[in-house]
Amino acid sequence: MSVTVVTGSASGIGAAISEQLKRAGHRVIGIDRQQADIVADLSTAEGRKAAVAASLDACGGVLDGLVCCAGLGSTAPSSSLIVSVNYFGMSEIMDGLRDALAQGSRPAVLLIGSVASVQPGMDKLPMVAAMLAGDEAGACVQADATGMTHAAYASSKFAIAVHARRRAVEWGARGIRVNVIAPGAVETPLLKASLDDPRFGEATRKFVSPLGRNGSPEEIARVATFLQSEQASFVNGTVVFVDGGMDAMIRPDRY
Ligand code: NAI
Repeated sequence: MSVTVVTGSASGIGAAISEQLKRAGHRVIGIDRQQADIVADLSTAEGRKAAVAASLDACGGVLDGLVCCAGLGSTAPSSSLIVSVNYFGMSEIMDGLRDALAQGSRPAVLLIGSVASVQPGMDKLPMVAAMLAGDEAGACVQADATGMTHAAYASSKFAIAVHARRRAVEWGARGIRVNVIAPGAVETPLLKASLDDPRFGEATRKFVSPLGRNGSPEEIARVATFLQSEQASFVNGTVVFVDGGMDAMIRPDRY
């Protein structure tokens, strides 16, 4: 039986992925702030270390899969918190579990990014370089200096996709595949918080995919289950947009 760790397993996309992976025969070890096999706060270095240690304990040091979903949207209390959870809460968990994954059977890692990462300019903000350098304190200072939580959100999602692609190249020799799903708007509590927020509600309502609707967590989970399966054995280092065509709408001439 494949053993897979899923962060953000208590809600939305992470809950749907956990459910579908279980149906596909995986043993899922869930990590979240509450209602999970491992309760941990991924916004702090200590919380992340504790989550890695508890995961290694639960899987006996041999892990076949990792899916990092835990994340905060633009309505989070601060830009720095978004950077800490969305970038370091994924990069440090995957790096901390690397050796266990290398022991696993056909191991695969999946990070949940966002179509927001392709918004023009988000790749150039100074916080991106700080994140990729592993400088959490510096990235948090830069993020709070912009004063725009949506910029921290988009930049953290760009940086985590770059981190995944770098690791895909480095870890390929160990047989570990690493991919990213970039969802568009998906009906979860995170999206509802944006819709209900006076700062982001109108823009969120207007940002509709070419298919004319938002996605469901199950539509993301189906692609996630595929990417984590042997059916996707040659898929490595890619960013799969599951967004109803939003990426094509934002930048039709680039891919
Ligand atoms: P959600 O709010 O339903 O689920 C997020 C989960 O992450 C929650 O269970 C929450 O407790 C957990 N989490 C947050 N901070 C944490 C922390 N410090 N430590 C441990 N766990 C923590 O949101 P949703 O929509 O399911 O989001 C999942 C991922 O999908 C996120 O990374 C989000 O950025 C991404 N995403 C969501 C989109 C959407 O429209 N819903 C669009 C694009 C990406």
